[in-house]
Amino acid sequence: MKKQLLALVATLAVGASALAADIKLVVNADQPGPVIHRNIYGQFAEHLGTGIYEGMWVGPESKIPNVRGWRKDVVAALKELKVPLVRWPGGCFADEYHWREGIGPRNKRPVKVNSNWGGVPENNAVGTHEFFDLVEQLGAEAYVNGNLGTGSSQEMAEWLEYMTSTGKSTLAELRRKNGRDKPFRVHYFAVGNEAWGCGGNMRPEYYADQYRQVATFLRTPEDNRPIFIASGGNGMQTEWTEALSKGVHSVNAISHHAYTLPTGQWEKKGSAVGFPESEWVSTLGNVQQIEEMIKVNKAVLDKNDPSKKIGFYFDEWGSWYDPDPGSNPGFLVQRNTLRDALLAALHFNVFHAHADRVHMTNVAQMVNVLQAMILTSKDKLVLTPTYHAFAMYTPFQDATSVPAKIENNPVYKVDKFAMPTLSATAARGKDGKLYIGLVNSNANQPAELTLQVGANAPKSVKGKLLTAGAMDAQNELGKPAQVVPVAYEAQAADGKLTLKLPAKSVVVVAVEG
Ligand code: AHR
Repeated sequence: MKKQLLALVATLAVGASALAADIKLVVNADQPGPVIHRNIYGQFAEHLGTGIYEGMWVGPESKIPNVRGWRKDVVAALKELKVPLVRWPGGCFADEYHWREGIGPRNKRPVKVNSNWGGVPENNAVGTHEFFDLVEQLGAEAYVNGNLGTGSSQEMAEWLEYMTSTGKSTLAELRRKNGRDKPFRVHYFAVGNEAWGCGGNMRPEYYADQYRQVATFLRTPEDNRPIFIASGGNGMQTEWTEALSKGVHSVNAISHHAYTLPTGQWEKKGSAVGFPESEWVSTLGNVQQIEEMIKVNKAVLDKNDPSKKIGFYFDEWGSWYDPDPGSNPGFLVQRNTLRDALLAALHFNVFHAHADRVHMTNVAQMVNVLQAMILTSKDKLVLTPTYHAFAMYTPFQDATSVPAKIENNPVYKVDKFAMPTLSATAARGKDGKLYIGLVNSNANQPAELTLQVGANAPKSVKGKLLTAGAMDAQNELGKPAQVVPVAYEAQAADGKLTLKLPAKSVVVVAVEG
């Protein structure tokens, strides 16, 4: 009996290792797909809590080192991420923002109530000139979100004229009087935000008509014509894409919103730290829903826009947890942990897989709000796990995607939540190297997979690994950072290259030879 038991244990062990050895990542580097637009790595900065004021803007008089009001430390950290694009001024804030209140001498600008976010005073210190100064310091493109809610086609048209006119019009001269001779380069312009909600509670058809009317008047010089974005749907909705892709002229892109809440309930979203493993999986597994949103909306676009003129963007995505205890709930402050780093990497892998339509996304938000890159307190800052995921994935900006398929990908299941254990992406970087991004979502089990490029095993790979001991490991001010990337490499042996991924990890490597 004992002998039989031992034999069974041995068989199971062999079976398990055979199963593990069976996981294979096959990359077809000779089958180039669409380019992964760098703006997939875009950021979002809204007048919300300390996202802009304190977090980035301290004003030129501040003791905190700054360049014309923007914090030097924050800008330097963001430059490391090669931030390609920043969306501003909202969000919900955009539909109550009047651009004229944010130009001219700062001490003369009106103080308003930020009624969306905490009811705090908004002194308009950051306006059009300050925003463009920020994007120019970052070397990023500008995405300006127009006000359809409390604004008008006239107000949007005049804002565009103010920003882009080269001539001698009164608005162009006003811009010059305010210190800017040459026009600002506006790369993207959106007509409203979340028209289905805070942007006016509209129906898709009503918004589509509004867009049609407003867009008629949004004129700019030809060489400074932004990509015009229509505010799209949310979650699994397709009706916004349907209404906006059917003969609405000048819709260059439709922007969808997709937040990830561990519980899926807005009243009790789930905690950013100290969560159970079931909420780890429900959070990471939500990326499957996001891929589904893309697929169903792409199907609508492929029907209405077969020549692929219209982009499908996500100008807001990321985790949304219960507010950090003790914080102003209107400021959307939340901790950022290893879970957020994996969530970001999983989004990137999905966005890359749909790079034919998804040319731009903006994580919500850049500093101190929701799934932030950076958390600040007075003159200190901390780089979050999400920051490191963005940093590790920078080689994918403008890289050419190539097919990457995982064979025998095990299912990771906790309670009623299930997802594929591994996620992968691959692309030929602008430097000519082949890059691979991998996520092991299993919170407890490491994974091993063999890598094949075409029919061959590469000689070696080199890159970075991000992991930590706990699911909710975080980097906190004044404490040693718990989540930082470390060097990672693997060499082929016996004609086989095996990648060992620790539990709950992100790996980005370049294939060497
Ligand atoms: O990112 C926070 C808010 O979420 C945005 O202002 C709004 O568009 C969305 O509901």
